[in-house]
Amino acid sequence: IGAMTRIIRGVLMHAPSSPFHGPGLEAFSDGGLAIQGGRIVAVGAFVEVRGQYPDAEVSDLREGVILPGFVDLHVHYPQARIIGALGYRLLDWLEDHTLPEEARLADVTYARALAKDFLRGLLKNGTTTALVFGSHFAAAMEVFFEEALASGLRILAGLVLSDRNLRPELHTTPQRAYQESLSLARKWHERGKLRYVVTPRFSLSCSEAILEVCQQIQKELPGTFFTSHLNEMPEEIATVRKLFPWADSYCQTYDRFGLVGGHAVFAHNVYPQDAELECLASYRSAVAHCPCSNAFIGSGIFPLRRHLEAGVKFGLGTDVAGGTGFGILKEGLMAYLTQRLLPEGYLLTAPQLLYLATRAGAEALSLQDEIGDFGIDKAADLVYVKPPRGSSLEAVLRHAETPEQVLGAVFTMASEADIAEVFVDGEERLM
Ligand code: GUN
Ligand code: ZN
Repeated sequence: IGAMTRIIRGVLMHAPSSPFHGPGLEAFSDGGLAIQGGRIVAVGAFVEVRGQYPDAEVSDLREGVILPGFVDLHVHYPQARIIGALGYRLLDWLEDHTLPEEARLADVTYARALAKDFLRGLLKNGTTTALVFGSHFAAAMEVFFEEALASGLRILAGLVLSDRNLRPELHTTPQRAYQESLSLARKWHERGKLRYVVTPRFSLSCSEAILEVCQQIQKELPGTFFTSHLNEMPEEIATVRKLFPWADSYCQTYDRFGLVGGHAVFAHNVYPQDAELECLASYRSAVAHCPCSNAFIGSGIFPLRRHLEAGVKFGLGTDVAGGTGFGILKEGLMAYLTQRLLPEGYLLTAPQLLYLATRAGAEALSLQDEIGDFGIDKAADLVYVKPPRGSSLEAVLRHAETPEQVLGAVFTMASEADIAEVFVDGEERLM
């Protein structure tokens, strides 16, 4: 029996190469995307794909736009229920608002329900791949990985490690950090589409001994990922400087322990020194740009042009709940808006926003052979953006004439309510 083939028919848009260095965008106004066994086997004009697979079942999705599944490079699972706390900056937001909620994950029943809310939040917003900042509790990570496996999403995550400056319930010891991380990583790394991520919260909450443990775990389990926070705001950076007097920069506090590598993603980097950008570029590390969070908690505006010029890879992150929700489209809009407000800001185009929301995220995670665009043999992870009848976005899309106009309107106006369907490995997951 030959594999069943299905063709998705509609307006297809993806960015298989970087629109920062060339045209980037590829669009099919009446496109066909053929899927077998969850993988893309053909893409192009519908008539041509139809010709290749005359017996395939056709799903007509011509009322909206089909994009590759979104990639969220930075989002906190324990913070799914505390979005929207106005009036804080990073350090008091953590102390008064966020860490008390994170302490509630000591209760695994609470943690499991939260994991379900969190994963549903990703899916409903079209995010099919996420690098997730986990919990400080190993049991909360067990239930998270169970739920993540059941969700079918591509999730990279790990136990969050800290041993100072937070609150006692959230602190571990180097020995416990080592044992719990290894045991979680051995069980969950490379199980289905899950990957393990070594995750010290940030240098401000970590002793050198904890950072050494991170290095040790990565040595024992090559192929695991690494994530943390970097250069988010001035008060934080000043504290890190005091805690690590030997370091010339925040980045060096990680680099000293071998933690800046090709499988590393650092969130924010709003205030990098040139030497830090050079360091990140030379190791092929990536940055998660989280523009909603940077505005919401008053961090500042991301030096996007400096990242581009230094050749540092970057994609988008929502940073829930420093951020304002699970929408990667909104992050694209916010990246555009904040760059406009900067005197030397980079004027982003619609194809660049699409690239940042999809393929750039895949490259940041070294997953560009698996996801990020409609390339042959990639996973059929797709988002169907179709605004409800009578909505203002529907009216705009009806009058849009070019792919750039359609994409511009989608990034400017679309929200969760406009994500009509999400396909993961070729299967509908929303309805
Ligand atoms: N730095 C350390 N922890 C956090 C966090 O939870 N959110 C953000 N935005 N920055 C952090
Ligand atoms: Zn964060």
